[in-house]
Amino acid sequence: MPRVSGWSEAKQCMPVAAGMPVELGKCDIPALVELERLCFSVPWSAKQYETVIGNEPFHLFGIREGQELVGYLTLFASAWEMEILNIAVHPSWRRQGYGQRMLSHVLHLCRKMGIKRGYLEVRRSNIPAQSLYTAFGFEEVGVRRRYYPDNREDAIIMRLDLETDPSRTD
Ligand SMILES: CC(C)(COP(=O)(O)OP(=O)(O)OC[C@H]1O[C@@H](n2cnc3c(N)ncnc32)[C@H](O)[C@@H]1OP(=O)(O)O)[C@@H](O)C(=O)NCCC(=O)NCCS
Repeated sequence: MPRVSGWSEAKQCMPVAAGMPVELGKCDIPALVELERLCFSVPWSAKQYETVIGNEPFHLFGIREGQELVGYLTLFASAWEMEILNIAVHPSWRRQGYGQRMLSHVLHLCRKMGIKRGYLEVRRSNIPAQSLYTAFGFEEVGVRRRYYPDNREDAIIMRLDLETDPSRTD
């Protein structure tokens, strides 16, 4: 049975190069909070990031260009399932493949870990994010009506079967 503690080993096997996703730490919190504010109407706070960074079921990856954090992805992983909690790319760096690169990296790691299913929630109106997820094989499996507190928009629940042949993930 795969163990979540195997994550460190799995991550060490991944290439580390400029423009590639890397694991984020507490020193990245100010940049994360700034990006959150730019990208989401209900942003996570510094306190929320302090709770998840370094806390084993959570994993945070980001991509830097120079000193700038241009995008990040947060996920929660158990032995068989994972959930993508957040993914965002700075508005000035969108449509240049960063979102795709982060998702690809994370799905590759999840497959290595033997994780079988991935889940996420996305606003009904968020077509860019839905297009990204669909390109990786995520499918709509449910709806949480009036889920988001700011505008009562529906959340679409999407699922990916990680045991199927990876399309854009390797
Ligand atoms: C969703 C998001 C992370 C995508 O990041 P990105 O780096 O711009 O995405 P990429 O350049 O890697 O695009 C990958 C694919 O996603 C889809 N996509 C991305 N932006 C899109 C847009 N504006 N319209 C339609 N499809 C889009 C396309 O399928 C694209 O593939 P293609 O370029 O071959 O057509 C980014 O738009 C973002 O940060 N949005 C705000 C935060 C957010 O809504 N996060 C999701 C929360 S659920």
